[in-house]
Amino acid sequence: MDVGIVLPTKDEPRWVQDETRFKEALKDTDYSVEILFSQGSSAKEKENVDALIAKGIKVLIICPHDGNAAAAAAEAAKKEGIKVISYDRLITNTDAVDYYVTFDSIAVGEAQAQYLVDKAKGKGNPLYLYAGAASDNNAFLFFEGAWNVLQPKIADGTFVIKNSSEAVALQNKPKLTRDEMARIIGQITTNWDFNEAKRRAEDNLTAAKKEDKGNVFILAPNDGTARAIADAFAADKDVTSYVVTGQDAEKASVQYIIDGKQSMTVFKDVRTLVKDAIAMAKDLLQGKEPETTGTYNNGKIDVKAKQTEVIVVDKNNVKEALIDSGYYNASDFTGIQ
Ligand code: GAL
Repeated sequence: MDVGIVLPTKDEPRWVQDETRFKEALKDTDYSVEILFSQGSSAKEKENVDALIAKGIKVLIICPHDGNAAAAAAEAAKKEGIKVISYDRLITNTDAVDYYVTFDSIAVGEAQAQYLVDKAKGKGNPLYLYAGAASDNNAFLFFEGAWNVLQPKIADGTFVIKNSSEAVALQNKPKLTRDEMARIIGQITTNWDFNEAKRRAEDNLTAAKKEDKGNVFILAPNDGTARAIADAFAADKDVTSYVVTGQDAEKASVQYIIDGKQSMTVFKDVRTLVKDAIAMAKDLLQGKEPETTGTYNNGKIDVKAKQTEVIVVDKNNVKEALIDSGYYNASDFTGIQ
């Protein structure tokens, strides 16, 4: 076996998308490749990596369920001389990672926040913040990007935070430490889970007063959680309108955007990430140095990385960004203009 690929879970459309795109991209190569899912468990992830090591892989492409916990799996591979490529999410606090392919995750957060800023009028706009799983290094990068753009607009009164006392306590601080972000994320995390996102939004709405609602602005970290949170806000009679962000251009959310139930998503063209990961693996299998565009510090080392840009999609450019680009077919949706 040449290459082993390990993805976090099959329970989220995002990673099923990556599996599909890998299979498409690999069908014309002569390399032997196996794709395994960790079903949201670091123990299962380690089991998967051990199984692939036993099959003699030379390159491991892995998107960690938990960035820290995955260090053990990466170290087991490295001990066998296997090259480790961190995929989309960074494995942290180990020197057993050789390369990283990713999207610009800080730009994702900045794009989500800028969309809210562009839609806001006047002062005192109610702002509800939600984040990804604290075990995912990307959740910190997304939040850092969002805070870069939102903090000045919170400090000048454009937005008023309604669901995080930790964020309110830090609202005059442009740059947050990892610990400060962890304190905020602890109060607003969705753990990338649809039901947890819905429950947290409903709890926030129950706790909020009527004057904390009306026309609200919601930072939702990805599409799965965005739909759950949007449904909760749409069901609240004191919410007049909402602007909600997203990420991943999941089909269900693209339909929500067409139907006006979600405002935007950040499109990450997984075809590019897959192409970059496979190109890196091929170079490594041929003993060549893969192309990279920069580095990411993972808490232990500076990991060489290849980063891809992201695209904002809302009602106005769904067709151009997702249909004309061949990412999806128009027949996947109803009401496309
Ligand atoms: C992130 C990833 C996102 C998102 C999320 C949930 O790490 O970059 O695209 O979907 O995980 O799995």
